[in-house]
Amino acid sequence: MNPKAEVAHPSLAAAASGALARRETLTITDNRTGKTYEVPIREGTLRAMDLRQIRTGADDFGLMSYDPAFANTASCRSAVTFIDGDKGILWYRGYAIEELAEKSSYLETAYLIVKGELPTRDELDRWKDNITNHTILHENIKKYIDGFHYDAHPMGMLVSTVAALSTFYPDAKAIFDSASRELQTYRLIGKMITLAAFAYRHSRGLPYIYPDNELSYTGNFLNMLFKMTEPQYRPHPVLERALDVLFILHADHEQNCSANAMRAVGSSHVDPYSAIAAATAALYGPLHGGANEAVLRMLREVGTKDRVPEFIKRVKGGERKLMGFGHRVYKNYDPRARIIKKIADQVFSFTGRNPLLDVALELERIALEDEYFVSRKLYPNVDFYSGLIYQAMNFPVDMFPVLFAIPRTSGWMAQWQESLLDPEQKIARPRQIYCGSGLREFVPLEERSGRREGA
Ligand code: SDX
Repeated sequence: MNPKAEVAHPSLAAAASGALARRETLTITDNRTGKTYEVPIREGTLRAMDLRQIRTGADDFGLMSYDPAFANTASCRSAVTFIDGDKGILWYRGYAIEELAEKSSYLETAYLIVKGELPTRDELDRWKDNITNHTILHENIKKYIDGFHYDAHPMGMLVSTVAALSTFYPDAKAIFDSASRELQTYRLIGKMITLAAFAYRHSRGLPYIYPDNELSYTGNFLNMLFKMTEPQYRPHPVLERALDVLFILHADHEQNCSANAMRAVGSSHVDPYSAIAAATAALYGPLHGGANEAVLRMLREVGTKDRVPEFIKRVKGGERKLMGFGHRVYKNYDPRARIIKKIADQVFSFTGRNPLLDVALELERIALEDEYFVSRKLYPNVDFYSGLIYQAMNFPVDMFPVLFAIPRTSGWMAQWQESLLDPEQKIARPRQIYCGSGLREFVPLEERSGRREGA
């Protein structure tokens, strides 16, 4: 797959092919009235508001588009991430994910995603220093984490504590002040690893480990997670690099469920900590970022390679989903999954092979041959193999979605800022098709008799 393959955007393709002579419009005839409308096609889309002129009379509100789950609706224009699901292409700001995974670091990629360009050496050093200097938490945050039950899910702790940060930084409400947005970006990227590590330490009954700012971003995170009584924690370079690449792969993914949550909540002009809490909550779901946790539980349930056919039968019967498979956009192999499979080999060469890998490989082998999955274009996605690596690195399963939220913070901040500064955007407030009851008169309690149907 040549990641630099020329991807012709529909309007660019049209211009290139000299099709500009052809009118870029859609002619719509409303058979209810016989009227005809000409609607412009711009960037491969119709503006939904252009449908409102199509009415049957003065009292008619006009046509709307109806698109549950936005399966075919562009909610914004964005320059952050480009995905071509049919070709299995993923670019951050025009750079192919394969190159960034091989040649970049997470913090450098986070700079690219947030700022739009790769940093110079000075810019990167300043970016790293600013984020590193914001890894420490206000001491009171520990009281929030101490208050959770011993077996609280770390994503529940992360959603709560990142929301709590909004009360420590009221200056974050100045969302149209670029310096404030920059400072909150440092704080959020820097503190997410500390919040995550503190949640982990709490769930293990271990003392909190403070940041060691001599270490890299990912090394510092591993330090806060796994340091015990040694004077100074030293992360193993194989694991440190593997986790850093996994962070690169999870940094952004255009308008996924959590990015949509970030933009929708941010459109009310709330502070970014509250919006990030909403995005983190969206990521917690098993259909989204919670899938990596669900994959491991699924592999454990299947247990051994010889039980794979029986499980596949249950999936094809609609009884179960093959977690870590399928994607709303990728109808080809998720390019991130391909890279993660390579990382798995590097990690297992150090940690020892995870026996569940054989179950995963057999599930993939069968699914890629079976008509049920082929016809539905179900391929492994980013979550299918990542959990095996995290488990081999001694992360508990319930920490897996937390390991997704940490790097996605840079993507969420980039999407939030882009939306905030987009003159076309305003508070998100979709319409609906009302399917409820017509007007009814209130019935006094004493006159309500008999059981209603379905009550
Ligand atoms: C992420 O959007 C992003 O970018 C997300 C993400 C990111 O980086 O932010 O890439 C990260 O969330 C990856 C996806 C992780 N989720 C999972 O692995 C959970 C399992 N996958 C499915 O739940 C599902 O594939 C979705 C939610 C990912 C996508 O669902 P869609 O696009 O709405 O597809 P669908 O539910 O309409 O499915 C189409 C058909 C259906 O069959 P029929 O009704 O036509 O018979 O495919 C079937 C589905 O039942 N199907 C599956 C399946 N996924 C879809 N069948 C079995 N196993 C699956 N995993």
